[in-house]
Amino acid sequence: MNKKIALITGANKGIGLETAKQLLELNYDVYLSSRDIAKGMEAVDKLQQIGLSPRFVQIDVTNHESIKQAKQHIEQEVGKIDVLINNAGIMLDKTGVLDMPIDVLDTTLKANLYGPLMMIQEFYPIINPNGKIINLSSILGQLKSMKNYSPAYSISKTALNALTRQTAAALYKHNIAVYSVHPGWVRTDMGGKDADMDVQDGAYTSVWLATEGTMEQTGKYFYRKNELTW
Ligand SMILES: NC(=O)c1ccc[n+]([C@@H]2O[C@H](COP(=O)([O-])OP(=O)(O)OC[C@H]3O[C@@H](n4cnc5c(N)ncnc54)[C@H](OP(=O)(O)O)[C@@H]3O)[C@@H](O)[C@H]2O)c1
Repeated sequence: MNKKIALITGANKGIGLETAKQLLELNYDVYLSSRDIAKGMEAVDKLQQIGLSPRFVQIDVTNHESIKQAKQHIEQEVGKIDVLINNAGIMLDKTGVLDMPIDVLDTTLKANLYGPLMMIQEFYPIINPNGKIINLSSILGQLKSMKNYSPAYSISKTALNALTRQTAAALYKHNIAVYSVHPGWVRTDMGGKDADMDVQDGAYTSVWLATEGTMEQTGKYFYRKNELTW
């Protein structure tokens, strides 16, 4: 049987790199993507050293042209993909909401919201039926528990959750599921050294939905196998 093909953004480090590793170990064909080619090639090298063979494609999710070129490249190379993981993200906040600089919100939305939106708009035509789109959200985007903490990041992830709902509804007829994921508080450059999970655990929810997610679960928000309220 042909291998399933996954594309992961921001996969040169952190949860994205670990997700690539775990999917390769499960015999997926994986496009590791990175905005920086040198950092991406270093990550490819690390995986090759442990006997894995990722493909590489450059994507800066804030650059529409790079997204279009990656789509063209992937379509020419393999035709269609099965899983898109919108993993790339940034957290820039240093203030509360009352003194949040508008340019911090603007830059954050470009990476964490417009990036996944452009990725979905470009790639859905080359996602196979029964395909999956996984948006790396955060518990900080949950309205129910939201406080005045990391406002630009939190607002961007709430908006990303709305994008999950919108695109899940729009892609239902294409038989493509869309999920939001909270990976946990994970020890990465973003999560910091005090976080309570290692990356192996942090990749769990994305890998579970990539491999076992169903259409019944589309438009939902998960932490591990638990459905979260918005
Ligand atoms: N760690 C946590 O505790 C935690 C909790 C909840 C949610 N999340 C979410 O999980 C995802 C992965 O987080 P992480 O902890 O692995 O973060 P990380 O270690 O900081 O990695 C983030 C990745 O995103 C990439 N990236 C940033 N802007 C990009 C752009 N414009 N285009 C393409 N790639 C870009 C980074 O590339 P560079 O190396 O070039 O900067 C890096 O590869 C994020 O969406 C994050 O919001 C993380």
